[in-house]
Amino acid sequence: MLQNNYNQNVVPVITIDGPSGSGKGTIGQLLANRLQWHFLDSGAIYRIVALAAERHQVPIDDEVNLVRLAETIQIVFQTTQGSIQIFLDQQNVTQAIRQETISQLASKIAAFPRVREALLALQRSFRKAPGLVADGRDMGTVVFPDACLKIYLEASVEERAKRRHQQLLEKGFDVRLMPLIDELIERDRRDKNRKDSPLVPAVDAVLIDTTSLSIEKVMTQVFDLACQRVSSLKK
Ligand code: DC
Repeated sequence: MLQNNYNQNVVPVITIDGPSGSGKGTIGQLLANRLQWHFLDSGAIYRIVALAAERHQVPIDDEVNLVRLAETIQIVFQTTQGSIQIFLDQQNVTQAIRQETISQLASKIAAFPRVREALLALQRSFRKAPGLVADGRDMGTVVFPDACLKIYLEASVEERAKRRHQQLLEKGFDVRLMPLIDELIERDRRDKNRKDSPLVPAVDAVLIDTTSLSIEKVMTQVFDLACQRVSSLKK
């Protein structure tokens, strides 16, 4: 375990941002396991609110009630034998939030500044010793601007769609590749162009293009950077 034995008041955070399929979820989880730090999948939080909106029939343009929902639903992440189970109001929604319809809904509700604001404290509450690896779109720019290391992963849209397609097939969803490319492009456009907390690399982020890199290669780079940054904090 990489110990945080410098300023005990500051729990270190490593952020991994990037678009869908860039590898941030996989790398974030692997890095957190390797460091034995906590892990935040912030996209899952937006997905949970989207699923709750669907289930409670809150219209997608009703910002006031979406905020109310974000403030009142109970969201629990439970790690059991290395795998994370996600609960919405005590119901296991780990699989349900991964549907493509929920991806699009999540991206739409994430464009509302007040919804984002309502979810800020919850995301920051994951910052616990010995450290946190946080993955999302605005982890390094807005949620944890003081992170000790900020990574921004990119990849071509074709490669990202292929990865996402594979992931969804493995999860048992029956999806086709071509519509997925269009949906990814649409979601990227929305996430990158919204006014509040758009998907952009932080000015101090390390950019890695993962298009032709294996998970192991990306992981080696990210882990080396993490070790360097964390040990320089101790000096
Ligand atoms: O990472 P993901 O694909 O599970 O995220 C789903 C959507 O949630 C994404 O399209 C935009 C939104 N999101 C966000 O706006 N900010 C984050 N930090 C994480 C996700």
